[in-house]
Amino acid sequence: MESPFKGDILKGKVALLTGGGSGIGFEISLQLGKHGASIAIMGRRRNVLDSAVASLHSLGIPAIGFEGDVRKREDAMRVLESTVKHFGRLDILVNAAAGNFLVPAEDLSPNGFRTVIDIDSVGTFTMCHEALKYLKKGGPGREPSSGGTIINISATLHYTASWYQIHVSAAKAAVDSITRSLALEWGTDYDIRVNGIAPGPIDDTAGVSKLAPEEIMSKERQNMPLFKLGEKWDIAMATIYLVSDAGKYVNGTTLVVDGGLWLSKPRS
Ligand code: HXC
Repeated sequence: MESPFKGDILKGKVALLTGGGSGIGFEISLQLGKHGASIAIMGRRRNVLDSAVASLHSLGIPAIGFEGDVRKREDAMRVLESTVKHFGRLDILVNAAAGNFLVPAEDLSPNGFRTVIDIDSVGTFTMCHEALKYLKKGGPGREPSSGGTIINISATLHYTASWYQIHVSAAKAAVDSITRSLALEWGTDYDIRVNGIAPGPIDDTAGVSKLAPEEIMSKERQNMPLFKLGEKWDIAMATIYLVSDAGKYVNGTTLVVDGGLWLSKPRS
């Protein structure tokens, strides 16, 4: 589908995306790149990074992949430093790395719970924390009065309660809270806008294939106001809105992109 945004809306911007080599993260990499941004991708798997970067290069998008795990602070520091060394600055950080699996609470070990918190919540905080010096107004390659922006990919699981997702629900609730706290502190002090996006069920993603197999989705569809799955494209367009000047007065919000699903109930 053609983008409603101008092709150069992000010209000159540099974006770093964790988990940007596959799924929703890759679509965001692709669309930010198609709209003029240079792209750095951080991920754990070299082969995934290489194929993502090759796809971006084939479209003429400047891109580079860095191996790293958001659970390791030294990886976060190294990847951020390498990104700024390579592209000269950092304007956009997208925290899309996430871990997930379906498990009843009684079968989830505390270490399993912690693993997802470590990836989603602590990982998001770590990346933001280490990115601050590059994103803040007056940071390397930046104008003295203008800061960069952060997008944290969240979910809607924790707005109510979701079966077999106790760990992810807790992790994403923390992510939303991090978004608000940083928006307050860093918006005020450093001109950095921090927002989130909460995708609903998005077609052709690990989220849907792992967490909502077809037998669940076919029942769910009856309760979806727009009666269909979202596309990765929908999340990428929301990202462009939030990171571009179109969203310049939006700070501290988590934009739900789910077709209205989370607030729906079965028809009585
Ligand atoms: C129960 C599990 C488990 C499972 C792991 N664990 N998988 N417990 N059921 N299926 C437990 C392990 O037993 C262990 O605890 C602990 O978690 C750590 O497991 P490891 O395998 O050592 O962890 P690691 O190799 O780091 O793998 C991390 C992972 C993995 C989260 C477990 O699934 C992962 O990284 N997946 C790739 C990313 C991903 O899933 N992306 C999709 C995101 S979709 P013990 O006690 O045994 O030591 C998404 C959408 C959300 O986020 C919203 C949807 C609507």
